[in-house]
Amino acid sequence: MKNIIEIKGLVKKFGDFAAVDDIDLEIEEGEIFGILGPNGAGKTTTINLILGLLKSTSGSIRIDGIDNTKHLEQIKNMIGFMTQETVVESDLTAVQNLTLFCNLYHVKNDEVDGRVKEALREANLEEVANAKAGTFSGGMQRRLSLVRSMMHTPKILILDEPTTGLDVQNRFEMWDRIRDLRNKGMTIIMTTQYLEEADALCDRIAIIDHGKIKAEGTPSELKAMIGKGNVLEIVSDTANAPKIAKVLESKFKLKVELKNEKLSAVLNSGDIKTFNRIVDEMSRDGYRIFAISMHLPTLDDVFIKLTGTSLRDSLGENVSTMSRARMMGRR
Ligand SMILES: Nc1ncnc2c1ncn2[C@@H]1O[C@H](COP(=O)(O)OP(=O)(O)OP(=O)(O)O)[C@@H](O)[C@H]1O
Ligand SMILES: [Mg+2]
Repeated sequence: MKNIIEIKGLVKKFGDFAAVDDIDLEIEEGEIFGILGPNGAGKTTTINLILGLLKSTSGSIRIDGIDNTKHLEQIKNMIGFMTQETVVESDLTAVQNLTLFCNLYHVKNDEVDGRVKEALREANLEEVANAKAGTFSGGMQRRLSLVRSMMHTPKILILDEPTTGLDVQNRFEMWDRIRDLRNKGMTIIMTTQYLEEADALCDRIAIIDHGKIKAEGTPSELKAMIGKGNVLEIVSDTANAPKIAKVLESKFKLKVELKNEKLSAVLNSGDIKTFNRIVDEMSRDGYRIFAISMHLPTLDDVFIKLTGTSLRDSLGENVSTMSRARMMGRR
Protein backbone atom coordinates (compact mmCIF):
# COMPACT_ATOMS: atom_id res chain seq x y z
CA MET A 1 0.00 0.00 0.00
CA LYS A 2 1.24 3.47 -0.74
CA ASN A 3 1.36 6.29 1.78
CA ILE A 4 -1.20 8.90 0.87
CA ILE A 5 -0.17 11.27 3.66
CA GLU A 6 3.40 11.77 4.88
CA ILE A 7 4.10 14.04 7.82
CA LYS A 8 7.65 14.77 8.89
CA GLY A 9 8.88 16.70 11.92
CA LEU A 10 5.64 18.62 12.26
CA VAL A 11 5.68 21.35 14.92
CA LYS A 12 3.01 23.93 15.72
CA LYS A 13 3.72 26.47 18.42
CA PHE A 14 1.29 28.98 19.87
CA GLY A 15 3.76 31.40 21.46
CA ASP A 16 6.16 29.19 23.41
CA PHE A 17 3.68 26.35 23.74
CA ALA A 18 4.05 23.46 21.32
CA ALA A 19 0.53 22.11 20.65
CA VAL A 20 2.07 19.73 18.09
CA ASP A 21 5.58 18.73 19.01
CA ASP A 22 7.62 17.01 16.32
CA ILE A 23 5.18 14.54 14.83
CA ASP A 24 5.99 12.00 12.11
CA LEU A 25 3.10 10.09 10.56
CA GLU A 26 2.54 7.97 7.50
CA ILE A 27 -1.03 7.20 6.53
CA GLU A 28 -1.70 4.46 4.01
CA GLU A 29 -4.19 4.69 1.20
CA GLY A 30 -7.45 2.93 2.05
CA GLU A 31 -7.06 2.66 5.81
CA ILE A 32 -8.95 4.07 8.75
CA PHE A 33 -6.26 5.84 10.70
CA GLY A 34 -7.13 6.95 14.23
CA ILE A 35 -5.52 9.74 16.20
CA LEU A 36 -6.33 8.87 19.80
CA GLY A 37 -5.71 11.20 22.71
CA PRO A 38 -7.25 13.15 25.58
CA ASN A 39 -8.51 16.76 25.56
CA GLY A 40 -5.83 19.18 24.47
CA ALA A 41 -3.52 16.46 23.11
CA GLY A 42 -3.16 18.25 19.78
CA LYS A 43 -5.57 16.26 17.61
CA THR A 44 -7.50 19.17 16.10
CA THR A 45 -4.33 21.20 15.63
CA THR A 46 -2.75 18.30 13.71
CA ILE A 47 -5.82 18.04 11.52
CA ASN A 48 -5.92 21.77 10.86
CA LEU A 49 -2.28 21.58 9.82
CA ILE A 50 -2.99 18.72 7.40
CA LEU A 51 -5.87 20.70 5.93
CA GLY A 52 -3.67 23.76 5.56
CA LEU A 53 -6.04 25.77 7.80
CA LEU A 54 -3.11 26.44 10.13
CA LYS A 55 0.47 27.19 9.16
CA SER A 56 3.05 24.93 10.79
CA THR A 57 6.01 26.29 12.73
CA SER A 58 8.20 23.68 11.05
CA GLY A 59 8.02 20.31 9.35
CA SER A 60 6.35 19.09 6.20
CA ILE A 61 3.09 17.47 5.10
CA ARG A 62 2.75 15.75 1.74
CA ILE A 63 -0.64 14.65 0.52
CA ASP A 64 -0.52 12.20 -2.37
CA GLY A 65 3.00 13.46 -2.95
CA ILE A 66 2.00 17.13 -2.98
CA ASP A 67 3.32 19.67 -0.46
CA ASN A 68 0.18 20.86 1.32
CA THR A 69 1.36 24.48 1.60
CA LYS A 70 1.38 24.68 -2.19
CA HIS A 71 -1.32 23.69 -4.68
CA LEU A 72 -4.04 24.54 -2.16
CA GLU A 73 -6.85 24.05 -4.65
CA GLN A 74 -5.63 20.57 -5.55
CA ILE A 75 -5.40 19.63 -1.87
CA LYS A 76 -8.89 21.00 -1.20
CA ASN A 77 -10.30 18.82 -3.98
CA MET A 78 -8.69 15.70 -2.54
CA ILE A 79 -9.94 16.06 1.03
CA GLY A 80 -13.36 16.04 2.67
CA PHE A 81 -13.53 17.37 6.21
CA MET A 82 -16.01 17.10 9.05
CA THR A 83 -15.27 19.49 11.92
CA GLN A 84 -15.38 18.59 15.59
CA GLU A 85 -18.32 20.88 16.26
CA THR A 86 -20.86 19.75 13.71
CA VAL A 87 -22.14 22.92 12.17
CA VAL A 88 -24.86 22.33 9.65
CA GLU A 89 -26.62 25.49 8.56
CA SER A 90 -29.69 25.22 10.76
CA ASP A 91 -31.81 27.71 8.79
CA LEU A 92 -31.17 25.88 5.54
CA THR A 93 -32.88 22.66 4.51
CA ALA A 94 -30.95 19.43 4.00
CA VAL A 95 -30.99 20.01 0.24
CA GLN A 96 -29.79 23.60 0.63
CA ASN A 97 -27.00 22.51 2.99
CA LEU A 98 -25.79 20.01 0.42
CA THR A 99 -26.12 22.40 -2.51
CA LEU A 100 -24.15 25.03 -0.61
CA PHE A 101 -21.26 22.62 -0.24
CA CYS A 102 -21.44 21.66 -3.91
CA ASN A 103 -20.92 25.35 -4.67
CA LEU A 104 -18.14 25.78 -2.13
CA TYR A 105 -16.32 22.83 -3.65
CA HIS A 106 -17.05 23.76 -7.26
CA VAL A 107 -19.06 20.66 -8.15
CA LYS A 108 -20.10 21.03 -11.81
CA ASN A 109 -23.59 22.55 -12.14
CA ASP A 110 -25.07 19.64 -14.08
CA GLU A 111 -23.84 17.20 -11.43
CA VAL A 112 -25.25 18.99 -8.39
CA ASP A 113 -28.79 17.55 -8.43
CA GLY A 114 -27.51 14.01 -8.81
CA ARG A 115 -24.93 14.41 -6.05
CA VAL A 116 -27.51 15.92 -3.67
CA LYS A 117 -29.97 13.08 -4.29
CA GLU A 118 -27.27 10.49 -3.76
CA ALA A 119 -26.10 12.19 -0.55
CA LEU A 120 -29.65 12.32 0.84
CA ARG A 121 -30.00 8.62 0.18
CA GLU A 122 -26.63 7.79 1.74
CA ALA A 123 -27.52 9.81 4.84
CA ASN A 124 -31.02 8.32 4.99
CA LEU A 125 -32.50 11.83 4.99
CA GLU A 126 -34.66 11.61 1.85
CA GLU A 127 -37.89 12.05 3.78
CA VAL A 128 -36.70 15.26 5.44
CA ALA A 129 -34.90 16.62 2.38
CA ASN A 130 -36.78 19.92 2.54
CA ALA A 131 -36.94 20.38 6.30
CA LYS A 132 -34.63 22.83 8.02
CA ALA A 133 -31.50 21.16 9.40
CA GLY A 134 -32.03 22.94 12.71
CA THR A 135 -35.03 20.69 13.38
CA PHE A 136 -32.94 17.50 13.00
CA SER A 137 -31.76 15.31 15.87
CA GLY A 138 -28.04 15.25 16.69
CA GLY A 139 -27.60 11.97 14.82
CA MET A 140 -29.36 13.31 11.70
CA GLN A 141 -27.26 16.49 11.75
CA ARG A 142 -24.11 14.42 12.00
CA ARG A 143 -25.19 12.24 9.06
CA LEU A 144 -25.90 15.37 7.03
CA SER A 145 -22.57 16.83 8.02
CA LEU A 146 -20.79 13.63 6.93
CA VAL A 147 -22.30 13.43 3.44
CA ARG A 148 -21.93 17.18 3.04
CA SER A 149 -18.18 16.84 3.50
CA MET A 150 -18.06 14.46 0.53
CA MET A 151 -20.03 16.36 -2.13
CA HIS A 152 -16.90 16.78 -4.25
CA THR A 153 -16.10 13.01 -4.03
CA PRO A 154 -12.76 13.40 -2.22
CA LYS A 155 -10.39 10.47 -1.84
CA ILE A 156 -9.40 11.33 1.71
CA LEU A 157 -11.87 11.99 4.48
CA ILE A 158 -10.84 13.71 7.71
CA LEU A 159 -13.22 13.39 10.63
CA ASP A 160 -12.53 15.29 13.85
CA GLU A 161 -14.22 13.37 16.68
CA PRO A 162 -17.06 12.09 14.48
CA THR A 163 -18.89 10.39 17.34
CA THR A 164 -18.40 12.72 20.30
CA GLY A 165 -21.77 13.57 21.81
CA LEU A 166 -23.66 10.88 19.87
CA ASP A 167 -25.71 8.26 21.69
CA VAL A 168 -24.68 4.63 21.42
CA GLN A 169 -26.96 3.73 18.52
CA ASN A 170 -25.91 6.71 16.43
CA ARG A 171 -22.28 6.02 17.29
CA PHE A 172 -22.53 2.45 15.97
CA GLU A 173 -24.31 3.71 12.86
CA MET A 174 -21.48 6.16 12.28
CA TRP A 175 -18.95 3.33 12.68
CA ASP A 176 -20.79 1.33 10.01
CA ARG A 177 -20.80 4.32 7.66
CA ILE A 178 -17.08 4.89 8.17
CA ARG A 179 -16.34 1.20 7.54
CA ASP A 180 -18.46 1.25 4.38
CA LEU A 181 -16.54 4.23 3.07
CA ARG A 182 -13.21 2.54 3.81
CA ASN A 183 -14.43 -0.62 2.08
CA LYS A 184 -15.22 1.47 -0.99
CA GLY A 185 -11.61 2.68 -1.05
CA MET A 186 -11.73 5.95 0.90
CA THR A 187 -8.80 6.81 3.17
CA ILE A 188 -10.11 8.00 6.51
CA ILE A 189 -8.29 9.90 9.20
CA MET A 190 -10.25 10.37 12.35
CA THR A 191 -9.61 11.62 15.85
CA THR A 192 -11.19 10.15 18.91
CA GLN A 193 -11.02 10.20 22.68
CA TYR A 194 -12.74 6.84 22.90
CA LEU A 195 -10.55 3.81 23.42
CA GLU A 196 -13.20 1.30 22.42
CA GLU A 197 -13.87 3.24 19.25
CA ALA A 198 -10.21 3.34 18.25
CA ASP A 199 -9.93 -0.36 19.01
CA ALA A 200 -13.05 -1.45 17.14
CA LEU A 201 -12.90 0.86 14.15
CA CYS A 202 -9.38 1.91 13.28
CA ASP A 203 -6.96 -0.14 11.19
CA ARG A 204 -4.05 1.74 12.73
CA ILE A 205 -3.81 4.18 15.59
CA ALA A 206 -1.42 6.87 16.75
CA ILE A 207 -1.67 7.59 20.46
CA ILE A 208 -1.01 11.26 21.02
CA ASP A 209 -0.48 13.13 24.28
CA HIS A 210 0.90 16.63 24.88
CA GLY A 211 1.52 17.07 21.17
CA LYS A 212 3.71 13.99 20.86
CA ILE A 213 3.08 10.57 19.36
CA LYS A 214 3.55 8.05 22.12
CA ALA A 215 2.97 4.93 20.05
CA GLU A 216 1.64 3.85 16.70
CA GLY A 217 0.37 0.60 15.27
CA THR A 218 -2.62 -1.65 14.75
CA PRO A 219 -4.81 -2.13 17.85
CA SER A 220 -3.33 -5.62 18.33
CA GLU A 221 0.24 -4.37 17.95
CA LEU A 222 -0.41 -1.70 20.56
CA LYS A 223 -2.01 -4.13 22.97
CA ALA A 224 0.89 -6.54 22.47
CA MET A 225 3.06 -3.84 24.11
CA ILE A 226 1.51 -4.91 27.40
CA GLY A 227 2.81 -8.42 26.85
CA LYS A 228 1.10 -11.70 26.22
CA GLY A 229 -0.46 -11.83 29.65
CA ASN A 230 -3.59 -10.72 31.40
CA VAL A 231 -3.84 -7.42 33.23
CA LEU A 232 -4.52 -7.53 36.97
CA GLU A 233 -6.27 -4.39 38.14
CA ILE A 234 -7.01 -3.45 41.72
CA VAL A 235 -8.82 -0.39 43.02
CA SER A 236 -8.26 0.45 46.66
CA ASP A 237 -7.80 3.85 48.32
CA THR A 238 -4.78 6.13 48.25
CA ALA A 239 -3.67 5.05 51.73
CA ASN A 240 -3.77 1.32 51.05
CA ALA A 241 -2.76 1.21 47.39
CA PRO A 242 1.00 1.64 48.06
CA LYS A 243 0.86 -1.12 50.69
CA ILE A 244 -0.83 -3.45 48.23
CA ALA A 245 1.77 -2.58 45.60
CA LYS A 246 4.53 -3.63 48.01
CA VAL A 247 2.83 -6.96 48.73
CA LEU A 248 2.33 -7.67 45.03
CA GLU A 249 5.97 -6.87 44.36
CA SER A 250 7.51 -8.77 47.27
CA LYS A 251 5.21 -11.76 47.58
CA PHE A 252 4.08 -12.24 43.98
CA LYS A 253 7.11 -10.80 42.17
CA LEU A 254 4.95 -8.58 40.00
CA LYS A 255 5.95 -5.31 38.40
CA VAL A 256 3.27 -2.92 39.61
CA GLU A 257 2.06 0.35 38.08
CA LEU A 258 0.56 2.49 40.83
CA LYS A 259 -1.54 5.58 40.20
CA ASN A 260 -3.42 7.08 43.15
CA GLU A 261 -5.85 4.40 44.29
CA LYS A 262 -5.37 2.14 41.27
CA LEU A 263 -2.83 -0.59 40.69
CA SER A 264 -2.16 -2.77 37.72
CA ALA A 265 0.28 -5.52 36.88
CA VAL A 266 0.66 -8.13 34.18
CA LEU A 267 -0.04 -11.75 35.04
CA ASN A 268 0.92 -14.67 32.83
CA SER A 269 -1.80 -15.46 30.35
CA GLY A 270 -4.63 -17.35 32.04
CA ASP A 271 -2.80 -17.51 35.37
CA ILE A 272 -5.96 -17.78 37.42
CA LYS A 273 -4.07 -19.53 40.23
CA THR A 274 -1.95 -16.48 40.96
CA PHE A 275 -5.03 -14.32 40.63
CA ASN A 276 -6.81 -16.46 43.23
CA ARG A 277 -3.83 -16.32 45.57
CA ILE A 278 -3.84 -12.54 45.28
CA VAL A 279 -7.57 -12.40 46.01
CA ASP A 280 -6.99 -14.63 49.07
CA GLU A 281 -4.16 -12.45 50.28
CA MET A 282 -6.23 -9.30 49.86
CA SER A 283 -9.19 -10.74 51.77
CA ARG A 284 -7.05 -12.10 54.60
CA ASP A 285 -5.37 -8.90 55.63
CA GLY A 286 -8.32 -6.55 55.36
CA TYR A 287 -7.00 -4.24 52.67
CA ARG A 288 -9.67 -1.91 51.45
CA ILE A 289 -10.41 -3.39 48.03
CA PHE A 290 -13.18 -1.85 45.93
CA ALA A 291 -12.50 -3.73 42.71
CA ILE A 292 -10.22 -6.49 41.58
CA SER A 293 -10.16 -7.95 38.11
CA MET A 294 -8.17 -9.85 35.55
CA HIS A 295 -8.69 -8.94 31.90
CA LEU A 296 -7.14 -9.00 28.46
CA PRO A 297 -5.00 -5.93 27.72
CA THR A 298 -7.00 -2.95 26.46
CA LEU A 299 -5.86 0.24 24.79
CA ASP A 300 -6.35 1.94 28.15
CA ASP A 301 -3.69 -0.35 29.63
CA VAL A 302 -1.44 0.75 26.77
CA PHE A 303 -2.25 4.40 27.44
CA ILE A 304 -1.45 3.97 31.16
CA LYS A 305 1.84 2.29 30.32
CA LEU A 306 2.80 5.08 27.92
CA THR A 307 1.63 8.14 29.83
CA GLY A 308 1.14 7.06 33.44
CA THR A 309 -2.50 8.09 33.37
CA SER A 310 -5.70 6.46 32.26
CA LEU A 311 -7.40 8.00 29.26
CA ARG A 312 -10.64 6.90 30.84
CA ASP A 313 -9.91 8.97 33.98
CA SER A 314 -9.26 12.06 31.91
CA LEU A 315 -12.66 11.71 30.25
CA GLY A 316 -15.84 10.97 32.12
CA GLU A 317 -19.24 12.53 31.94
CA ASN A 318 -18.16 16.15 32.14
CA VAL A 319 -16.25 15.93 28.88
CA SER A 320 -19.03 14.53 26.76
CA THR A 321 -21.41 17.03 28.33
CA MET A 322 -18.90 19.74 27.55
CA SER A 323 -18.56 18.71 23.93
CA ARG A 324 -22.30 18.52 23.61
CA ALA A 325 -22.66 22.00 25.11
CA ARG A 326 -20.02 23.20 22.69
CA MET A 327 -21.95 21.75 19.77
CA MET A 328 -25.22 23.22 20.96
CA GLY A 329 -23.58 26.61 21.34
CA ARG A 330 -22.65 26.64 17.69
CA ARG A 331 -26.14 25.99 16.41
N1 LIG B 1 -5.23 29.06 18.49
C1 LIG B 1 -4.67 28.60 19.60
N2 LIG B 1 -3.97 29.43 20.42
C2 LIG B 1 -3.39 28.96 21.55
N3 LIG B 1 -3.45 27.70 21.98
C3 LIG B 1 -4.13 26.83 21.22
C4 LIG B 1 -4.78 27.22 20.00
N4 LIG B 1 -5.38 26.14 19.46
C5 LIG B 1 -5.12 25.13 20.30
N5 LIG B 1 -4.37 25.52 21.35
C6 LIG B 1 -3.89 24.67 22.46
O1 LIG B 1 -3.19 23.58 21.89
C7 LIG B 1 -3.45 22.38 22.60
C8 LIG B 1 -3.99 21.34 21.64
O2 LIG B 1 -5.31 21.72 21.24
P1 LIG B 1 -6.16 20.85 20.25
O3 LIG B 1 -7.42 21.58 20.01
O4 LIG B 1 -5.35 20.46 19.09
O5 LIG B 1 -6.44 19.56 21.15
P2 LIG B 1 -7.40 18.33 20.86
O6 LIG B 1 -6.57 17.10 21.03
O7 LIG B 1 -8.12 18.51 19.60
O8 LIG B 1 -8.41 18.42 22.11
P3 LIG B 1 -10.02 18.10 22.19
O9 LIG B 1 -10.12 16.64 22.42
O10 LIG B 1 -10.43 18.88 23.39
O11 LIG B 1 -10.65 18.56 20.92
C9 LIG B 1 -4.41 22.75 23.72
O12 LIG B 1 -3.66 22.96 24.89
C10 LIG B 1 -5.03 24.04 23.24
O13 LIG B 1 -5.41 24.84 24.32
MG1 LIG C 1 -10.09 18.66 19.10
